[in-house]
Amino acid sequence: MSLNGKQVIVSAGPTYEDIDPARFIGNRSSGKMGFAIAAEAARRGAAVVLVAGPVHLPTPEGVTRIDVRSAAQMHEAVTSALPASIYIGAAAVADFTPQAFSSAKLKKKPGTETLTLELVRTRDILADVAAHPLRPKRVVGFAAETNDIEHYARGKLQAKRVDMICANRVGVTGSGFEADDNALHVFWTQGDATLGPAPKAEVAAVLLDLIDKELD
Ligand code: CTP
Repeated sequence: MSLNGKQVIVSAGPTYEDIDPARFIGNRSSGKMGFAIAAEAARRGAAVVLVAGPVHLPTPEGVTRIDVRSAAQMHEAVTSALPASIYIGAAAVADFTPQAFSSAKLKKKPGTETLTLELVRTRDILADVAAHPLRPKRVVGFAAETNDIEHYARGKLQAKRVDMICANRVGVTGSGFEADDNALHVFWTQGDATLGPAPKAEVAAVLLDLIDKELD
């Protein structure tokens, strides 16, 4: 399937939510799946904007990369990159961020054994893109589930009003965080499909075919 003339936005990697100048809250995401999708979309002729959280990966050929750190910065970069034909939210966005950033490093208090951090919800980039006046024709999200995969994935499909949810098949050999292979269970309103386990580049190609075939 060719993506000539199409605009594709992909978000990838983790976000880091700063607590103080020395510490942050992050999550385990290498960004490899999102980068593989961006590379494959560019190979098919799309104009690709890749919004990347803090990752150690080279920029795929022909892709415009925007580096961000926090969920708020990712939200701003993704929505500023609209309009697009397709948005694929493959980033592991932090669901919570510290209510306040401390510009001075937090110090241990003598005699105190606990520390309480006040966290607030981040804005949901995927849901906001799906509800945006410039909504891409196709909005695709990811989900990391360990149990009741179909129940939770279909719940997200409806709640976030997206066209497709790709659930990572956690526990399948070689799939998931930091691995070079991945296995997905993909859900859309009229159906579902299992992809892999296979190298992330291969999974990206099958996923783009699926978006074209099932959602067009
Ligand atoms: N997402 C987002 N913005 C957020 C949080 C998540 O865009 N602030 C996107 C992710 O990029 C991914 C999808 O939403 O495409 C994941 O959905 P989410 O409900 O956050 O999944 P989980 O973090 O697994 O949520 P839960 O812990 O509720 O299962």
